[in-house]
Amino acid sequence: MTAKQDSVVRVSSTLLKMLNDAIAREIQVAIQYMWQHVQWGGVKGFAVHDELKAISVAEMKHAEAIAERLYYLGGIPTTKPTPIFVGSTLKEMIEQDVKDEAGAIELYQQIVEKARKEGDETTNRLFREILQQEEDHHDTFTTLLEDL
Ligand SMILES: [Fe+2]
Ligand SMILES: [Fe+2]
Repeated sequence: MTAKQDSVVRVSSTLLKMLNDAIAREIQVAIQYMWQHVQWGGVKGFAVHDELKAISVAEMKHAEAIAERLYYLGGIPTTKPTPIFVGSTLKEMIEQDVKDEAGAIELYQQIVEKARKEGDETTNRLFREILQQEEDHHDTFTTLLEDL
């Protein structure tokens, strides 16, 4: 795949790199949550099984939306996830998920700010929308962790 060259919007290579870091994280958590919901067991696991599955699908949609934006801006979306950690107990799983959501929130706040500084309103708006969803995920996992 070759990069698009005709985008009207010009952004820095730093911002493009940040978008690819975001994609790598989204692919990571999409797979991580999917394998976690496959492996969840016991009564507590049963209660949140569908929720974890839904969040996994949401993360895949994030990866796709960010990749579309990155490609439009002239970048090539990565296919490589950041390291996936499934965990062996429910507590281990959710502790990791809370950390990953916190990491996404931190990076996406930086992307929102960077895109704003570079006058890229579309990336700014996209990441404000995604950021809101990551905050919801963080809230969901933090609440789940209280019961484990
Ligand atoms: Fe996400
Ligand atoms: Fe998330």
